[in-house]
Amino acid sequence: MGGSAVGAEAKPVGDLTEAEARAELERLAGVLGAANVAYHTLDAPEISDAEYDALKQRNAGIEARFPALKREDSPSEQVGGALAEGFGKVRHAVRMLSLENGFSEEDIRDFDDRVRKYLGLAAKAELMFTAEPKIDGLSLSLRYEGGRLVQAATRGDGEVGENVTENARTIADIPREIPGAPEVLEVRGEVYMAHEDFAALNARQAEAGGKSFANPRNAAAGSLRQLDAEITRARPLKFFAYAWGELTEPLAETQMGAIGRLGSFGFVTNPLTRLCDGPDEMLATYREIEASRASLGYDIDGVVYKVDDLALQRRLGFRSTTPRWAIAHKFPAELAWTRLEAIDIQVGRTGALSPVARLLPVTVGGVVVSNATLHNEDYIAGRNARGEEIRGGKDIREGDWVQVYRAGDVIPKIADVDLSRRPEGAKPYVFPQTCPDCGSEAIREEGDAVRRCTGGLICPAQAVERLKHFVSRAAFDIEGLGAKQVEAFFNDEVLPIREPADIFTLAARDRSNPLQKLKNKEGWGETSAANLFRAIEEKRRIPLNRVIFALGIRHVGEVAAQDLARHYGTWEALTAAIDAARPAEARHGQAEAAVLAERQAAAEEGRRARVTETRTAVWEADPVLPAASVEAWNELIGIDGIGAVLAVSLVSAFHQEAERASIDRLVAELEIEPVVARGAVESPVAGKTLVFTGTLEKMTRAEAKARAEALGAKVAGSVSAKTDLLIAGPGAGSKATKAADLGVEVIDEDAWLALIGEA
Ligand code: IVH
Repeated sequence: MGGSAVGAEAKPVGDLTEAEARAELERLAGVLGAANVAYHTLDAPEISDAEYDALKQRNAGIEARFPALKREDSPSEQVGGALAEGFGKVRHAVRMLSLENGFSEEDIRDFDDRVRKYLGLAAKAELMFTAEPKIDGLSLSLRYEGGRLVQAATRGDGEVGENVTENARTIADIPREIPGAPEVLEVRGEVYMAHEDFAALNARQAEAGGKSFANPRNAAAGSLRQLDAEITRARPLKFFAYAWGELTEPLAETQMGAIGRLGSFGFVTNPLTRLCDGPDEMLATYREIEASRASLGYDIDGVVYKVDDLALQRRLGFRSTTPRWAIAHKFPAELAWTRLEAIDIQVGRTGALSPVARLLPVTVGGVVVSNATLHNEDYIAGRNARGEEIRGGKDIREGDWVQVYRAGDVIPKIADVDLSRRPEGAKPYVFPQTCPDCGSEAIREEGDAVRRCTGGLICPAQAVERLKHFVSRAAFDIEGLGAKQVEAFFNDEVLPIREPADIFTLAARDRSNPLQKLKNKEGWGETSAANLFRAIEEKRRIPLNRVIFALGIRHVGEVAAQDLARHYGTWEALTAAIDAARPAEARHGQAEAAVLAERQAAAEEGRRARVTETRTAVWEADPVLPAASVEAWNELIGIDGIGAVLAVSLVSAFHQEAERASIDRLVAELEIEPVVARGAVESPVAGKTLVFTGTLEKMTRAEAKARAEALGAKVAGSVSAKTDLLIAGPGAGSKATKAADLGVEVIDEDAWLALIGEA
């Protein structure tokens, strides 16, 4: 591949006709584009540096001879990493989810318990599961319409993936036509590379002077995500089918049956898939699969268990990113010993001082590791958050020999220290009390394991990290503006980006500054600058949930941002609610968060909480607190997934003057798209606020809540003037009385089931 890409036999530039030159520029843009993606995005170069340079030179030579033919996407204008473009985007009809991970036998028994509890099944009731290997590759969704393969997409962020249809068509395990398939059939599974093929590929790469792949997974990813499908064709990729997305008719009644159907359609399904009658058989299968791991000929990183009955799968449904009906039982992490060269402190976007271990590079499970997390100061000192000893109380010092472990994609960690190899004179590590970046005091609040810089927006490290978060994939995702570029702009004197709003004033500032155009800066050219401005413009219009997430407020992750956006719908409604909640938060938020923390701790430790339900009483008796504020606060913490800790963080962030001003400057630049409540489609409860009380007999409370939310309803914990409907089972107490007082409609469980069409 390398040889033909370079085109050793190609005509000298001086001999090209104009038409040939045009065609050649097109070819070079494709080849160099693919090489860039391989190198920068996949860290898996396809061609040697010398070949790359030769191609670039040839491209520049042709452009110099025929300036008029220079392409919009000319490779001479591209800056390294900014080029991951190339594949079209595909929105998945049904989201592609990931799996919850379990690591121990207990985790698996707990999974079985949770499924039973959710479904209201007795411990002895029959409940079957499938068990199958978890393939260590990359997932792919194949869409068939009328039995023909029309689209293949990578997982991407689960909602939007990359269109790799042409590439998928080159994989022998993927049928292009399926006679007798449902009208719409989406088959999902894992693309992987077998060990043998991986070794042969690396040998070929080495021969061609290219870089070799670190492991089969990287090789599979690098091979599938090729802009030139012909490169993919030459790579021996394989595919196991194990799941599905959109379907116009069900495949079967059970998981096992569905896998059988996929097999009958011509897909390869994993021969180690077994049906199990509960945790004992699941764990036995796990051991069996683990024992055969070395002889399978491809990488697996665990065993996946799925509830077999598809009707039960449907009832169990999904959490935000994972199904309730499946779990991945991961194999134990890989371990290696190495020397800890130094401990560095990184300052995160919320000011957290995170210690990072700089290691003598070591290979752990096929991957070279040179950094690992050390969590926090207690962890280094050999204590957990409660002050109890960990690692037998051994602390970690610079110069120590440490045991590194990594499991799957998680950040490597330090598991142990070898005291017998501790260098003489090694000193206990002293955790800094000031921010290494801005020098502000770094304090540790009670109950917080983390020490934080108090510099806020004046701390450059925090500001840069916030900006990196702001442009990250799940936030604004601005093409061409990644972590590296943000850092450069942050330090730029002429065209700086110091806060998110500055991104959106960049083009105007560039225009008003005729001598210092971005295109003249190192690393930028006319095309790349124009591309950046266009990419920024494209993000001026952006959905509410992304804006909330992008602000980088502590505790407000992607899921919480989505929950808030769905609940409030618009930016105006959200900020009005936050502002209204402020007085209540200021007076009682901390106390409420503490009550919540105590309840959680008590639940985890299986004891009775030391706090009683005093909140409402205290609040309603608070003479200076406006009722509207109490209501706004209660509404906020009543949103599923939003707890008091998060609410305190959110409300106080919006209340800090400098912070709010910065948010306002940003919002002034944007057009924020409202988010429609989930299931805004047709449903008799869409947009309504429901409260469940009393005992439900046909479904558990958790299931009722999840069903209601899936139908677009909000489920609150207490009855208020905003409640639309109270579903009361036997034993309903004060909530039913309150509902009656407020004139809220009350129905029983059967009426509820009838309402949602389950009766
Ligand atoms: S089921 C709705 N089964 O693991 C859940 N996933 O860590 C669909 N994977 O994204 C996934 N082998 O890429 C399933 N036998 C298997 C799998 C498997 C590998 C991957 C898949 C998923 C990831 C989650």
